Amino acid sequence: MTFNLETLENRKNRVAQALSTVLGNEDLVLVYSGEPIQKSGGFDQTYDFLPHPEYFWLTGSRRPYGVSAYSKKEGWVDFALLVNRDEKIWEGGRESVAGLPIEDLEKWIEKRKPQKIFQLGLPKKQLSNTSAEELAVIQETFSQVRRIKDQAEVDLIKNISLMANFGYKKLKTFIRPGVTERDIQLEYEFEVLKNGAHKMPYGSIVGAGSNAAILHAVPTSRVVKSGDLILIDAGADVDDYCVDITRVFSADGKFSSEQNTIINLVKDAQRSSIELCRPGVEWRDVHLASAKVMAQGLKDMGILNISAEEAMSTGAISVFFPHGVGHMVGLRVRDVGGPPNPNPKKYAGARLRVDMKLQQGHLMTVEPGLYFIEALLNDAETRQTFGDQINWNEALKWREFGGVRIEDDILVTTKGPQNLTEVVEK
Ligand code: GLY
Ligand code: MN
Ligand code: MN
Repeated sequence: MTFNLETLENRKNRVAQALSTVLGNEDLVLVYSGEPIQKSGGFDQTYDFLPHPEYFWLTGSRRPYGVSAYSKKEGWVDFALLVNRDEKIWEGGRESVAGLPIEDLEKWIEKRKPQKIFQLGLPKKQLSNTSAEELAVIQETFSQVRRIKDQAEVDLIKNISLMANFGYKKLKTFIRPGVTERDIQLEYEFEVLKNGAHKMPYGSIVGAGSNAAILHAVPTSRVVKSGDLILIDAGADVDDYCVDITRVFSADGKFSSEQNTIINLVKDAQRSSIELCRPGVEWRDVHLASAKVMAQGLKDMGILNISAEEAMSTGAISVFFPHGVGHMVGLRVRDVGGPPNPNPKKYAGARLRVDMKLQQGHLMTVEPGLYFIEALLNDAETRQTFGDQINWNEALKWREFGGVRIEDDILVTTKGPQNLTEVVEK
């Protein structure tokens, strides 16, 4: 089991404590693991089952069909699909599960006649009898607790970053002219899986040369050539916990001075953002810190015709830094990421889906990037919007360069930011 009973007990207590002011005495909360999804036309085949993160976090169980029930009167009561004969025959040993048989859940609920039923996780059958607003309050209360990483999660994530480091260390010697993006992906993933990871947390991103400017570059058969900068955004995953890391490499083992100019700018941006990852700081300010450093750099390079402050207020910097500076990470690569924010605001031209105050225990990626995206630099609408704020000819000179992103996973603590992925050299 990934987490020990004491850790799980603590989590259940923390949720109960948080619910104490928002849940009625006669109400019931049900957290569902979910069910395997059948492959279409696949007869008895299903996709690999991933328990809903809310359920896995709470119970440590990766079994489908489980439900953890909470009421103020009875505390937590677990229901599980007990390991059956077929599973023993077809799949061998399975984790033993604690809990009442899941078949008894409906009767158990009927007997108690709860006033309100709140369903979290992945319920199949709707039992909820509350408004969407009421459910959102319970959901957000649960999420607030889950956003604060506990020691067991931090230890696990640090371990996963060691697994990722095996991959990144291998790439230092593997990357050279003649290998393809796909070769790089396979080499990385082989090392990471060999060293304990269960899977990749997201499709590994590998971009050589101008492909480094594709934010979610899918590795292709493109061959690395001398002079290329190669961007790798790849992690590692154990039981859906993960790291999300980005590094850049040189085809030749040594970056050119032009490449170093941009890399150092992005590193400076990342340092100034990481420094702000402290309790009480607004996430938007962490974003703006990176935007400011990179805008000043572009101004100094003659690519921006306006001051860094102006480039942030008009959004011109977002032509080169078009994404938010990061997101919550931990249990899945997009961990429970802040209160629902359906109309995200723009800061320095980038839409930030995460827009909240940092708290001790939050784990955030900090991933500034500076890109020369030809599709944006030649886009008529973008050119019209920013007009002579940008020296387009100067910017286009860099189109073959691609881009640089550097990404680490930073834990917010009262003692200052703690980089959980610092083991991976940059
Ligand atoms: N790996 C995708 C991202 O950085 O968010
Ligand atoms: Mn990321
Ligand atoms: Mn990433």
